Amino acid sequence: MIFSKQFDKELLEHLGNVATMIRDIASTKDGYKFLISLLFHKRAMLYFTQASTRTFLSFMAALQILGISWSEIRDPSVSSEYKGESPLDSMRMFSSYCDIIIMRSKIPDFAECCAYLMNDLDDFNQRNVPIINGGAGADEHPTQALLDIYTIQREFAFVSKKDSSKWTLFDELRKKYPGLKRGLDGKVYGFCGDVGRGRTVRSLTNLLSQYDDMTFYFVSPDHPKLKLPANFKNELLDQGVDVKEYDDLNEIVDKVDMLYMTRIQHEHDSAEDKEFFKKLDYSKYYLSKDKVERMKDYAAILHPFPRDTRAKEIPAEIDNDPRAKYFAQARNGIWIRAALIAYLFDADGKIASHYQKHFSDYHDYNVEVL
Ligand code: CP
Repeated sequence: MIFSKQFDKELLEHLGNVATMIRDIASTKDGYKFLISLLFHKRAMLYFTQASTRTFLSFMAALQILGISWSEIRDPSVSSEYKGESPLDSMRMFSSYCDIIIMRSKIPDFAECCAYLMNDLDDFNQRNVPIINGGAGADEHPTQALLDIYTIQREFAFVSKKDSSKWTLFDELRKKYPGLKRGLDGKVYGFCGDVGRGRTVRSLTNLLSQYDDMTFYFVSPDHPKLKLPANFKNELLDQGVDVKEYDDLNEIVDKVDMLYMTRIQHEHDSAEDKEFFKKLDYSKYYLSKDKVERMKDYAAILHPFPRDTRAKEIPAEIDNDPRAKYFAQARNGIWIRAALIAYLFDADGKIASHYQKHFSDYHDYNVEVL
């Protein structure tokens, strides 16, 4: 599981449904007991030699939910790589001890190299295991895109815990927005900040561009490293996406159905870039309470996090606005990553059967597990 393009629409829908079943099943003691019995005979390796909080911890939680035991390496200096063992030899060793490897590395394309190593081992009838890319260098972050899509699926279902036979959130919203439809198709998606260097924007737009009648607005400083790369833009246009670029968040804030904020990644700046940033008016790329108040009532604000708390692309005063979905988005990572692992080990069918048997009258939206 290396590239976001490995997920098609059908699989995204399936994984979203499995994730919601897992979150509902895990909300009861008996359900949790069932889940941890599913894959207790499997072992995982978490090889995270590049910094991570959310991806590492949510994968760990997903493994716990499915009863999978795990080992971890976060610092290669405490492994035999310190003695000169190559990272590829390390991977092959992990595949001897574990049934799945989940990894994030500083080495560009390393997850892809490891996947090809496993394919080669398969060709020679040698032991090999699935590899999940937990965010590789500057390339891709496919499971972040997966949790982003799952969050958008849930938000644009327009289902509320207050829904009843007399009142639904969807009907209420349609009084003000008569053209509003459920689902991801036909919506306007805004992406703001470090569009050029952020791997999460690339992975998410790869997935969203599979849906119909899509409009993407990109807002970034006018700098070749930060703007939407031309080849990436052409790919989206070829897929029929309506793409527009802007230099100020003010121009789009009231038009978008979803706003995906990103941090400006100064750690990649050259000395020349630093001069450019000294003169930049950052306020054009940052949210404020005033801007949020101009957004549609149902618009979702997402951010892959970490946010830059010094720069404040999303100030904390917005966190309790109903449109701020970034903490729910991070929590969604647990359920969708558990769904992905269950799918890879062919346990998703058992989850669906259990759900139908024990939760068939259960509502999709379960306040207990939020
Ligand atoms: N969004 C994300 O990948 O966060 P971490 O870097 O903390 O894993």
